[in-house]
Amino acid sequence: ATNRTFTMIKPDAFGAGNSGAILEMIETAGFKIIALKATRLTEELAAEFYLVHKERPFYADLCRYMSSGPILAAILEKTNAVADFRSLIGATNPENAAEGTIRKRFATSIEANAIHGSDSDENALIEGNFFFNAFEHQG
Ligand code: CMP
Repeated sequence: ATNRTFTMIKPDAFGAGNSGAILEMIETAGFKIIALKATRLTEELAAEFYLVHKERPFYADLCRYMSSGPILAAILEKTNAVADFRSLIGATNPENAAEGTIRKRFATSIEANAIHGSDSDENALIEGNFFFNAFEHQG
């Protein structure tokens, strides 16, 4: 079925000027852009967004990093969107990311890994609603 996922182009990739190339990979892979904005998280907003990782040793670093510069947030639509998008972005650690994936091409470390992709339909909805109002993702 056609469904949606949520993505962020993270501060490392946005700051390096790689957003255009990444969006081209996303559209070439068949994803339709439903909503898109450049924005910036505060450390508090990053802490809220990544609350599921609160107990992880990298949580504080992650919140600092994700608020260190602007990002691009987007809602995307495609058949099998969540799983297909995770295939397109590749493994969390770029050392393990397959050839042809966004992280293989643009990630610089396990933290600065260029891009986020929701891990379930439920989280795609929650994460999309974190950044966008209803009128912004009518499709
Ligand atoms: P993502 O999977 O999109 O969401 C959680 C983020 O935490 C992950 O991308 C990385 O940016 C970061 N992360 C995950 N694991 C580690 C780790 N072991 N060390 C540092 N950062 C990590």
